[in-house]
Amino acid sequence: MTRPPMPAHRSDRVSLLKHLAMFRTDILATQPARLYRAKMAEVKLPFLHSVMVNTPDLVRLVLQDRPKDFPKSDRVREGLRLLLGNSVFVTNGPTWERQRRMIDPAFEGGRLRDTFPAMWDAAEATAARMQAGQVEIEAAMSHAAADVIFRTLFSVPIEDETAAQVYHTFRAHQRTAPILNPAALVRFPRWMPRIFSRETRATAARIRALITQMTEARMAAIKAGSAPDDLATKIMTTRDPVTGDMFDTEEMVDQVAIFFLAGHETSASALAWTLYLIATHPDWQVLLATEAAALRPYLESGAVPEFGFLKRFPLIRDTFREALRLYPPVPMLVRETAQREVFRKRKLGVGTQVIVSPWHMGRHEAIWPDPHAFRPERWQEPATREHARDGYLPFSAGPRVCTGAGFAMAEAVLILARLLHDWELSAIPGKVPVPIAHMTVRARDGIWLELCPRAAKP
Ligand code: HEM
Repeated sequence: MTRPPMPAHRSDRVSLLKHLAMFRTDILATQPARLYRAKMAEVKLPFLHSVMVNTPDLVRLVLQDRPKDFPKSDRVREGLRLLLGNSVFVTNGPTWERQRRMIDPAFEGGRLRDTFPAMWDAAEATAARMQAGQVEIEAAMSHAAADVIFRTLFSVPIEDETAAQVYHTFRAHQRTAPILNPAALVRFPRWMPRIFSRETRATAARIRALITQMTEARMAAIKAGSAPDDLATKIMTTRDPVTGDMFDTEEMVDQVAIFFLAGHETSASALAWTLYLIATHPDWQVLLATEAAALRPYLESGAVPEFGFLKRFPLIRDTFREALRLYPPVPMLVRETAQREVFRKRKLGVGTQVIVSPWHMGRHEAIWPDPHAFRPERWQEPATREHARDGYLPFSAGPRVCTGAGFAMAEAVLILARLLHDWELSAIPGKVPVPIAHMTVRARDGIWLELCPRAAKP
């Protein structure tokens, strides 16, 4: 059985300059391996006071019990503002509460059921795009997840001219500005301006112009009574139950930008790592392929099943859960203290960075047995409920939990089942992906797999 790849870890003794240089390229590599055992880690420098909380009680305190006392930091918002404006991902307080009241209904169970046919079409399109041979699966999943977002949000496939432009411009933007910007973790003085390159500004402006075009067109279609019944229409016609108002176009552009970003980058990362884990565990893959065979009657008849059909894939779901534990796409969540605190006898001033790490909690040696191993069958064991309650945070927890968690689970199970139905996946000797935290947890040189048509196997 292959051990899932880990990031390089820095040694405990490293100079400040080297540490900061590592920070800029890969947050995971700056963490020492002892954090898989530690209860808390503190960094105190002239520009940075930061604690990583690594016990279930402290994580619960920050995310669930007193989230208002640990808001998202302004510095994170500053790093994202060009692209995301005032989106729900970066706001705090009453603005954030109001935005969630209008967004959450679109992602409730009932609505997910309505979204399912669009997801199904995206899974079909993904299957049609795949080809036998060596495939860089991260890029393929990025394309697939962007297709899901456009189809469910705006009822258009990724081939739509505007959608394709958003996707390609976004990839260019990403190359110039890693969104999970390590610099966001460093406490530079507030007066210090954040420098964005000309290309970063230009790509962000282009993406927002394209999204504005789509949002304005949708607003006009809603007024004309001709809008399709998709997520964009739902969100744009939902009134805040408290104030009675709706999103205006500019605010909606901010939300579409985050749905596109949070919704496709994360799912792409999670799908790619899951497929790698499946490829490196051939015996398990056989079980999953047997489960995926439930798709056959629908593929033969062309009928689209109901949303509840996804219950037929419990092992695929558990495999995805296990991959999210080992490779949570958002490796670290950044908050800051709104008042003075004392954590494990350490005094924290106002504005101290508080980091919750889904990466470390998911692999913490005091929480999980065999924490670094891929053991999807653990999700069938009763004790895992307790471990997950204490250390499973791929979608965060508490009131700021990921809005799209249910959506992402449904999309992933469907796409994985669809790919496993058609393809046998194998790892390529010598091509072991090295995890790095870029925007999400990615592989340094991509994730390469060999695809062979399943039916063609003797
Ligand atoms: C496997 C896929 C996904 C993962 C692992 C994931 C993970 C996360 C995490 C960890 C957060 C909290 C970040 C923080 O507090 O700093 C978050 C927030 C968010 N996610 Fe997801 N996400 C996924 C897919 C999606 C999808 C498909 C959508 C929408 C279509 C979405 C929309 C959002 C939004 C709007 C927020 C901000 C919520 C708030 O701050 O109130 N995510 N996600």
